[in-house]
Amino acid sequence: MPKIQNKFRIISNKKVCQRFHRLCLDAKAIAKNVRPGQFIHIRVSDGITPLFRRPFSVFRARKGIEILYETVGRGTEILASRKSGEYLDVLGPLGNSFSMPPKGTRRVVMIGGGVGVAPMLALSDALAKKGYELVLLYGARTKGHIFKMDEFKKNGCKVFIATNDGSVGVKGYVSKLFSKIETNPQSTVVYTCGPHPMLAAVKQFVLENNLRCEVSCEEVMACGLGACLGCSIKTTDGYRTTCHDGPVFDINKIIF
Ligand SMILES: Cc1cc2nc3c(=O)[nH]c(=O)nc-3n(C[C@H](O)[C@H](O)[C@H](O)COP(=O)(O)OP(=O)(O)OC[C@H]3O[C@@H](n4cnc5c(N)ncnc54)[C@H](O)[C@@H]3O)c2cc1C
Ligand code: FES
Repeated sequence: MPKIQNKFRIISNKKVCQRFHRLCLDAKAIAKNVRPGQFIHIRVSDGITPLFRRPFSVFRARKGIEILYETVGRGTEILASRKSGEYLDVLGPLGNSFSMPPKGTRRVVMIGGGVGVAPMLALSDALAKKGYELVLLYGARTKGHIFKMDEFKKNGCKVFIATNDGSVGVKGYVSKLFSKIETNPQSTVVYTCGPHPMLAAVKQFVLENNLRCEVSCEEVMACGLGACLGCSIKTTDGYRTTCHDGPVFDINKIIF
């Protein structure tokens, strides 16, 4: 699939809750080709700092490309200050994508931790109306990380939320919601994305229950093209780059 580098107009860039923004780009050329799990690499400013692009999972690809992002540092703060009508230099789509559920799958469980929930909307868009039972388990730190989950629900997802402080949903880590997963390895598949401790807990759960599970890894990146090896992660097959070999891997192969 061709990678495109171009300047795309910002259609909107709005806060959707205390911690997250949603950015929509008029990037039809990318939206046409992107698959769930892939990411785009954005130059957040036209100046020289920050030097490197910042990677973001595709949240939605319809008329344009949308990302959901959390402001955590200089790059995302600059991104949050960009206005509709301005242009951003974007490279994408990059990386591999989630595999579609194998034959026999009846139930798809998506587990998102924090802004790791982002690629799950694109995935649920691809799986909606295909006859699967869709379940989203969303783990957030606090209510500042909770945004409207209507689009997931419209896709037919049953949504369960856990927050660390109990301000919304069940109190505790998202692992508190694992009891919602029906564990038949023939008919259930799991997809996940989030912080490492959560992914380690998901890995343990799927191993114990012999479930298939793909993970989207969000390591810190520089080039985004497999050249600098800066985003390498340890796998059972040796080191692999998150940007080029991933970001999606079989969770059993990742050594957390
Ligand atoms: C494939 C991929 C997809 C991603 N998708 C999303 C997404 O959809 N939405 C979103 O908000 N973020 C996503 N990220 C993470 C996002 O790229 C970083 O949050 C962003 O680059 C931070 O830039 P910054 O300049 O604001 O922060 P920096 O100033 O670079 O860093 C601020 C703090 O955040 C930490 N940090 C930076 N990058 C990461 C990271 N990748 N993982 C964990 N901690 C990090 C730094 O260690 C530091 O403590 C994704 C990352 C990857 C690799
Ligand atoms: S960011 Fe350079 S190899 Fe992945």
